[in-house]
Amino acid sequence: MTELLEKQASPRPAARESRAEATPGEPAHLELAAVSLRYGEVRALENVSLRVPRGSIVALIGANGAGKSSSLRAITGLRKVAAGEVRLEGRVINSRDTQEPTHALVRQGVAMVPEGRHVFPYMSIKDNLLMGAYTRRDKAGIATDLERVCERFPRLKERFHQHGSSLSGGEQQMVAIGRALMAKPRLLLLDEPSLGIAPQVIRLIGRSLLEINRKDGITVVLVEQNSRMALALSSYAYVLETGRVALEGPSKELMTNEHVKRLYLGG
Ligand SMILES: Nc1ncnc2c1ncn2[C@@H]1O[C@H](COP(=O)(O)OP(=O)(O)OP(=O)(O)O)[C@@H](O)[C@H]1O
Ligand SMILES: [Mg+2]
Repeated sequence: MTELLEKQASPRPAARESRAEATPGEPAHLELAAVSLRYGEVRALENVSLRVPRGSIVALIGANGAGKSSSLRAITGLRKVAAGEVRLEGRVINSRDTQEPTHALVRQGVAMVPEGRHVFPYMSIKDNLLMGAYTRRDKAGIATDLERVCERFPRLKERFHQHGSSLSGGEQQMVAIGRALMAKPRLLLLDEPSLGIAPQVIRLIGRSLLEINRKDGITVVLVEQNSRMALALSSYAYVLETGRVALEGPSKELMTNEHVKRLYLGG
């Protein structure tokens, strides 16, 4: 993973990529500004600010219940924020006054790989993948992208006509990522893609995410409990603890941070 990280860092100047500050005149691809989110009395997010520069991989790590999925819910509009703003390319998509419907975000280039993958069990792999392209009308483009997903994950091609239910967890994750790519996103959000998956498949998925980011230029927000994977793949990371940003910084620096090492990297 470390060599992959170095490769990823090379195409752009590190300083530009690894800072989460605003670049004058250019809005971040995605930004949360002082976002709070509640479920009734439960304060899931408190004053969370984070910035995802265009073309970057940004990781969000934290323990169970830290607020990782809630951050994604704030971004995708699945839950209205109680305070603060979520901005996509500078435009407010979730605030106390605005809530962009989730389906509208697909047309704005946002795709999500949800926790638990949600592969349709009685649909073929092919149809599962095509579900991701439901907003598109460009038949030729859809066919090309289906081919590209199969090149990226050859195992899916081999099982193209089998039901989703016949796949292993790792293969289902490939379907979920492939389906998100079929929407032709500019921003890809992933909620714990490594969950319950064998180490060699985690590495394969990690490599795919780097390629998706570098070759296709897709911005990636990677939510993970697998901090080692997330820090190896990302250029910048945020550590969430009980709904707050406890720590943030370039991923390489967080890897050697004592607090992160002790709590998130197993010493
Ligand atoms: N629908 C809900 N109703 C009430 N409380 C909720 C709901 N969803 C999440 N919470 C609470 O909000 C907090 C943040 O949850 P969230 O799902 O964002 O955490 P997470 O970091 O994604 O955790 P995990 O690693 O377990 O997926 C937790 O205290 C959780 O119990
Ligand atoms: Mg979660």
